[in-house]
Amino acid sequence: MHTSIENLLNDQIKYEAQASMQYLAMASWADSKGFSGVANFFYSQSEEERLHMTKLVKFVNERGGNVIIPALDLPSDTFASLPSLFEKFLSSEIFVTEQINKIIFECLDKKDYNVHNFMQWYVTEQLEEEATARTLLDKLNIIGDDKSGYYLFDRDIETFAAAEGNA
Ligand code: FEO
Repeated sequence: MHTSIENLLNDQIKYEAQASMQYLAMASWADSKGFSGVANFFYSQSEEERLHMTKLVKFVNERGGNVIIPALDLPSDTFASLPSLFEKFLSSEIFVTEQINKIIFECLDKKDYNVHNFMQWYVTEQLEEEATARTLLDKLNIIGDDKSGYYLFDRDIETFAAAEGNA
């Protein structure tokens, strides 16, 4: 594997791990505020990101690359409101998509069609996760600061997420 691709895949291992810890911090924040539906959603997102990370670790090893298990930055763990929690979710997913696009670009540049093929799974996954984040944020924007709306949002979040093809 070309070094530039190996480096980008190692960076991606860190970004997926970082997202997993970020969503765990968000789940914990929601749990502490009594939003149990939102907490469950982010606990499950955190697990998913961990799987995304592990899938990369296994792939780089299969390809004979050198995996670097990274140190992580401290996640944000204080949020002003439910909308700011979901803004963080969306910005985190947009960041991950941008990084995946960089890998795709590098694969095409170095003509590594095997990694390119492997990364297609991530491209599809990002499309779904960004759509989920946008839908949930749109719903919160409609609710505004109506507290009873937050109650219903928290109750129904798993149904919304499932409708987006992501749970
Ligand atoms: Fe695996 Fe949502 O980034």
